[in-house]
Amino acid sequence: MKVRKLVTIERHIAENQAMSPEASGEFSRLLRDLTLAIRIIAREVRRAGLADILGITEATNVSGDVVRKLDVFAHDTIVRAMDHGGHLCIMASEEAEELIHIPEQYERGKYVLIFDPLDGSSNIDVNVTIGTIFSVYRRVSDSGDGTLEDVLQPGYKQVAAGYACYGSSTVLVYTTGNGVDIFTYDPTVGEFFLTHEKVQIPKRGKYYSINEGNAAYWSPELQRYVQYLKTPSEDKQRPYKLRYVGTAVADVHRTLLYGGIFMYPGDKKSPKGKLRLIYEANPIAMLIEQAGGRATDGERRILEIQPTEVHQRTPLFVGSPEDVLEAEAFLRGEQQPVATVAS
Ligand code: AHG
Ligand code: MN
Ligand code: MN
Repeated sequence: MKVRKLVTIERHIAENQAMSPEASGEFSRLLRDLTLAIRIIAREVRRAGLADILGITEATNVSGDVVRKLDVFAHDTIVRAMDHGGHLCIMASEEAEELIHIPEQYERGKYVLIFDPLDGSSNIDVNVTIGTIFSVYRRVSDSGDGTLEDVLQPGYKQVAAGYACYGSSTVLVYTTGNGVDIFTYDPTVGEFFLTHEKVQIPKRGKYYSINEGNAAYWSPELQRYVQYLKTPSEDKQRPYKLRYVGTAVADVHRTLLYGGIFMYPGDKKSPKGKLRLIYEANPIAMLIEQAGGRATDGERRILEIQPTEVHQRTPLFVGSPEDVLEAEAFLRGEQQPVATVAS
């Protein structure tokens, strides 16, 4: 649903807090700190192509810092915005091998933050859409420093999830388990405004999204499914259109709005695919389910997988419910007849 009223993200979160199970000011402050980090990353993304020339100038003028890669910058910015607020007991970042503990001098809070600071890093230098993905859990350990157990929770326990998509505009897509809202950034006033409320994914789409360069390594079942999507049908539902950005955030964002299916399957070379369960698949799955879509690893619901390792990977099939169900049927070998029409 498109929105006419002027509402900032802070206002919207505050107004919706009463309805949310997380009805504490602490949760709102956590999100305010996180959106600050996202605004800073968005600014840096917009200047990315200038980093070398501006960076050299800044380095001589200010602190002598060397220009950092954007993904390291994004990681550091989120950590610096989040480690001192007293809301978190531990963090995990796709960019960091180890868990990130809260420095001794700061208070520990009841939440856990997991994030992929810069998603789509291979697209940074070619001016193609990139993103930031995050998810928030309530801690399960009692008090003090957070533990591995706090980080390795199944996705259905997320209390909030979202991503920022730095595209033709910067949007923040967000859920606390009460539907999906989209906020669009106005850099001239430094605010995210609510632009779409309670977004619903189409029941079926016209787009499929997968790295088809890997087709030779796919299972025969997956090859049959994608072949089916490309085969014209009498009712003109097929062939589907192919879109593949190579930034999960961008491919998921299009899938959320236009429908269809985004896949990063396991294959002969990478049996578990490429995407990471806790940093990418879980927040994406929560958002898509909250919008009425479906997210599985081909068999199991993503949100019910118990993570055993921080950087573990999972195959991902996500999007319109009818499309994902159809993909799963193909993967089970329940092959559908491929109707071909003469061109
Ligand atoms: P990241 O940049 O955080 O490492 O993630 C990259 C991921 C994901 O965004 C995208 O869907 C996928 O890599 C693309 O992988 P391929 O280049 O193998 O298609
Ligand atoms: Mn990523
Ligand atoms: Mn990343």
